Amino acid sequence: MKFFIDTADINEIKKAQEVGILDGVTTNPTLVSKIGRPYREVLKEIAAAVKGPVSAEVIGVEYEAMIKEARELARLGDNINIKIPLIEEGLKAVKTLTAEGIKTNVTLCFNAVQALMAAKAGATFISPFVGRLDDISSEGMDVVEEILAIYNNYGFETEVIVASIRNPLHIKYAAMMGADIATIPFSVFKSIVKHPLTDKGLAQFLEDYKKIPK
Ligand code: E4P
Repeated sequence: MKFFIDTADINEIKKAQEVGILDGVTTNPTLVSKIGRPYREVLKEIAAAVKGPVSAEVIGVEYEAMIKEARELARLGDNINIKIPLIEEGLKAVKTLTAEGIKTNVTLCFNAVQALMAAKAGATFISPFVGRLDDISSEGMDVVEEILAIYNNYGFETEVIVASIRNPLHIKYAAMMGADIATIPFSVFKSIVKHPLTDKGLAQFLEDYKKIPK
């Protein structure tokens, strides 16, 4: 299972990289807006700092605009994939970009049939937003399970990125279901390794070590 970080903050990306288990980055316009610098400048910097895939989202919502923007964003780095919203025009764009060899991450997916459409269009990645579904009292992880079953039935190669992660349980269930990737906000990334019993046990070992005759 791959771990991506869901942020546009280069400092968070570097801190996550230091742990040594980071495989890629996802961004979106909301995340980049928090940085306070030009959109493409931020994306270019991230692409240069990361070895794995980096998702950069288009702002256009019509086919022609998305294609033009996607081609420009793809030039920001060899590892850039283009985030395309899951709308009809977006699916058309995915088909064209895939034929051109540009990787895509179809975003804002909220049900399994949408994900099926994205896979048929040739998406490299699909991003179901589990947290936003939980927020409206739907089971976000149920959608992930359904997508994985459908992709498995037909051998689609589109990789499933569990997105809009809010807590470590989303990551656990994603892994148990066999999702390809979890894209994790920095706050959750920092918390997943921690357990109070680990800290307590370590403190005890260090204390007891002092009692051993030197
Ligand atoms: C995914 O690629 C999105 O950037 C992200 O996971 C959205 O998460 P949010 O619902 O916390 O904004």
